Amino acid sequence: MEAFIETLMSKMTLAEKLGQTNMAFIGRDITGPILSQNVDEKIRQGLIGAIINTYTVEDVRRIQQLCIDESRLKIPLLFSYDVIHGHRTIFPIALGLSATWDLKLIEQSARIAAEEATADGLNWVFSPMVDIARDPRWGRISEGSGEDPWLGSQIAAAMVRGYQVDDLSRTDTILACVKHFALYGAAEGGRDYNSVDMSPLHMYQYYLPPYQAAVNAGVGSVMTAFNGINGIPATGNRWLLNDVLREQWKFEGLIVSDYAAIKEMSVHGVGDLQEVCIQALTAGVDMDMVDEGYLETLKKSLDEKKITEQQIDQACRRILEAKYKLGLFNDPFHYCNEKRAQTMIFTEKNRSIAKEIACRSFVLLKNDRQILPLAKSKLKLGLIGPLADDQKHVLGGWSAAGDWKQCVSVRQGIQNLLQDQIEVFYAKGSNLIEDPLILQQLNAFSNDISLDNRSADIMIEEAVQIAQKSDVIIAVVGEAQSMSTEGGCRVDIGLPECQKRLLKALFETQKPVILVLMNGRPLTLPWEHEHAQAILETWFAGTETGNAVAEVLFGFYNPSGKLTSTFPRHVGQIPLYYNHKRTGRPFDPNRFIDRFKVNRIRTHFN
Ligand code: NOJ
Repeated sequence: MEAFIETLMSKMTLAEKLGQTNMAFIGRDITGPILSQNVDEKIRQGLIGAIINTYTVEDVRRIQQLCIDESRLKIPLLFSYDVIHGHRTIFPIALGLSATWDLKLIEQSARIAAEEATADGLNWVFSPMVDIARDPRWGRISEGSGEDPWLGSQIAAAMVRGYQVDDLSRTDTILACVKHFALYGAAEGGRDYNSVDMSPLHMYQYYLPPYQAAVNAGVGSVMTAFNGINGIPATGNRWLLNDVLREQWKFEGLIVSDYAAIKEMSVHGVGDLQEVCIQALTAGVDMDMVDEGYLETLKKSLDEKKITEQQIDQACRRILEAKYKLGLFNDPFHYCNEKRAQTMIFTEKNRSIAKEIACRSFVLLKNDRQILPLAKSKLKLGLIGPLADDQKHVLGGWSAAGDWKQCVSVRQGIQNLLQDQIEVFYAKGSNLIEDPLILQQLNAFSNDISLDNRSADIMIEEAVQIAQKSDVIIAVVGEAQSMSTEGGCRVDIGLPECQKRLLKALFETQKPVILVLMNGRPLTLPWEHEHAQAILETWFAGTETGNAVAEVLFGFYNPSGKLTSTFPRHVGQIPLYYNHKRTGRPFDPNRFIDRFKVNRIRTHFN
């Protein structure tokens, strides 16, 4: 590999070397499958090293072909994508996956994701996301494995094994990318992108281990984080990227910035574009995700002797090494196999494993008087709630190439399982959320929350009527998927008000109510906990949600998931996590009770 790359680099111009460090965005969703002229031309000139957001064999082949046929040195492109919890077959969100505590299943989910993604032309995934998080207000808590560094580390390694196995040159293995290095989950106040200030002890003991575990498992790439760490942005942080990652942990793979994170260092106040690119390169960032700062400024910085050619060579070399290990120099179309695309993606087998993993991820938070499992016949079931017949939100954030139309809703799942053995009455009961400002924000990128044109009162009335003729009510409530994803931070982590109103009306019917929750973060649910007879936490469980929920509700599968993130009773308790250091005055529930009263109570019971 070294000899091959040295020879290749000896033929490269400075512009071509910088081109390797440049990742371009060609989005099917945004620009359509046709390449923009600009990108075409840059590929021809060797000014692009990787593409983000293009998949399918057809599209990848066309772009790779352009690169091989028309660029001077024919250096194949990397094709990257956010394959986070599955590619086409979508598994539960990572927080749900972690609740399985089953490393083999988690590894298998990554294996299947790798098989599907590579069959779809991709060779690089931006996963695993291993940020420890203790603040459920932070929307991206959904993407990680909760609050425990040990479990998080085991899962990080399992995911890397699943993606890469131990041979990146296979057609069904894919370059993994551990992210977001580092401490992104500790954003102050749970507000996304926010600064992090942390002691070294805390870092090494709690937050850094999962990244290191991924490195030890051989992860091929690392993505920087958006946040600052003790005053210095992670993306320009030489101590973090060089001293810790490269020198202490011996990481030899490629480091990519997060999306526009280099340019954003200017907004952090580091300097202009030229300056932030110098900082990022000097810290050790090899590839610039989409902002083209390296391409535009590094030559000038070299001329002005602010960086050295060796630094550029080093970055370029690491990118070429990744391509070499993936087998792209042997065959740039290694991942473009139409037959694999037809046979490996969204198969029956993958769906059935997704169902098993979904069942496994559910956590039974309450089951008073063993109301669950429900009877499989002679039952009148009131199936109510804005998520009871939903196919979109079950996918969860970052659901890559998942197609909501192929997802199974809870309503459909119950029908699939029991057909006419029980009677099901359905009502939506309420909107997911009604606050106009929040709705506007949530719908900014995708219009996936639509309001019912009936009034809240009419919807509730219909739900109550249905409840009254049912033996038991299943209320499927929770969050919109966009409420717990990037930028999806909340100050109030309870159920939205309109859903609470619905639940209040249902509780007032005195019928037993079972809550099925769909959400991407711990929620505050003390009132719901008091009134519901059972609560099943199902996260956003992916493609097979409805089939899995039905199996668990009706006792075909015994739920065994365990929480990996603490559910506070009130938002004011945050941060609340199990491995909190004890204070000198640990909480004592009896402490503030009047001694006299305590004695009286004792006497009374004696
Ligand atoms: C920004 C996100 O922080 C990161 O997780 C993701 O991989 C990149 N965008 C690419 O989409």
